[in-house]
Amino acid sequence: MTKYDQIQQELLNSPKTWLVTGVAGFIGSNLLEKLLKLNQTVVGLDNLATGHQHNLDEVKNLVSEAQWDRFTFIEGDIRQPKTCQQAVQGVDYVLHQAALGSVPRSIADPLTTNAANITGFLNMLDAAKVEKVQSFTYAASSSTYGDHPALPKVEENIGNPLSPYAVTKYVNELYAGVYARTYGFKTIGLRYFNVFGQRQDPNGAYAAVIPKWTSALIKGEDIFINGDGETSRDFCYIENVVQMNILAATAQSEAKDQVYNVAVGDRTTLNQLHVALKNAVRENGIITNKTPIYREFRDGDVRHSQADITKAKSNLGYKAEYRIEDGVRQAVSWYMNFGNI
Ligand SMILES: NC(=O)c1ccc[n+]([C@@H]2O[C@H](COP(=O)([O-])OP(=O)(O)OC[C@H]3O[C@@H](n4cnc5c(N)ncnc54)[C@H](O)[C@@H]3O)[C@@H](O)[C@H]2O)c1
Repeated sequence: MTKYDQIQQELLNSPKTWLVTGVAGFIGSNLLEKLLKLNQTVVGLDNLATGHQHNLDEVKNLVSEAQWDRFTFIEGDIRQPKTCQQAVQGVDYVLHQAALGSVPRSIADPLTTNAANITGFLNMLDAAKVEKVQSFTYAASSSTYGDHPALPKVEENIGNPLSPYAVTKYVNELYAGVYARTYGFKTIGLRYFNVFGQRQDPNGAYAAVIPKWTSALIKGEDIFINGDGETSRDFCYIENVVQMNILAATAQSEAKDQVYNVAVGDRTTLNQLHVALKNAVRENGIITNKTPIYREFRDGDVRHSQADITKAKSNLGYKAEYRIEDGVRQAVSWYMNFGNI
C-alpha cells in the first residue's frame, strides 16, 4: 500500500473540509473531482477569470448526487480580503490554486498578474493563518528556477526569475517562509512542472502547449514550435499533481515550511512531444501529415527543465504514478471525447 493509498483510506474514514481556490480551473477542478470522490466536503472559490463553469459541470457529472451536495461554490475574487476570510471559515485544509498562469500573459500585463498572484496569495495566506487551518498548500512554480543552469532542478538552487509570472511565484514562497518564521504558520509550496491533462483549457492566446497542439492536431491546423524544438520540459500528468496536493495537505509538521518539486523527473523536448501527440491522435483515428512550423524563441521561456523529485519522495511518500506517455494517451482521449475544442 502506498502512502497515497493509506491517506485516501484515512480521508474516507474521517472526512475533512477543504477549500480549493481556482476550483473552476484545470488543476482546481481535478482536485475537486478527487476530493468529492473521497466523500470530502469542499468549498470552492473562483472568479472565473480563466476557469469555466463547464469544468464544474463536468465534475458534477462524474460524482454522485450525495458527493456533489458536499460542494459549495463561491464566485469571488482572491484580491478581496473579505472574500478570502469568508471562504476559509470552518475549513481544515486549504489548496490554494487560484492565480493567473502563463509567462506571456504576465509579460503583456504584469500588473494584473501581480494583483492576483501576490496580493491574492497574501490575502488567502493571511485569512488561513487567522482561521488557524490545519494546513495550507499552494501552487508554486518551476519558473522559480529561472536562469539557474543546473539539471535536474533541486529545490534549494534557484536562479533569477525570467518573467513577471516567475517573480510572483517566487514572492509566494518568500511570504510563505516569512509566515512560518513570524507567525509559526507553516505551509507547503508545490513547484509544478508543466502540468497537463483533462480540463486544461485548449483555447485562448495563453493556452499551454499540450492542449493547444492537441486541439490543432484534431482540427488539422498548423502547429507552431517556438525555437528549434529542442527546448525541454518535465511534463507532469494531472493525477500526479492531485496526489501531491493530498500528500502535502495531510503531511506532518516536519515536512512543512518547505517547497517541493512536482514532476516526473523526465525530460521531453518539444519535438518529441509533437511526435507523441501526433501518435496519440492517430491512435484515435486522426492522421495528419502536416509538419510543424518553427518560429522565434519566446521571451521569458526557460530553455530546459527537469525536476529532481527526491525530496517529494522521501518527505511526502510521493510516487509519480503517470509517466508522460500514459498521461498523453489519457489527455488526448479526453480532448477527443469531451474537450471543448
Ligand atoms: N498548469 C501548469 O502547468 C502550472 C505550472 C506551474 C504552476 N501552476 C499554477 O497552478 C495553479 C492552477 O493553474 P491551472 O493550470 O489550473 O490554471 P487555470 O487558469 O486553469 O486555473 C486558475 C484558476 O484560478 C482562477 N483565478 C484567477 N484569478 C483569480 C482571482 N483573482 N480570484 C479568484 N480566482 C481566480 C481562474 O479563474 C482559474 O479558474 C496556478 O496557481 C498556476 O500558476 C500551473
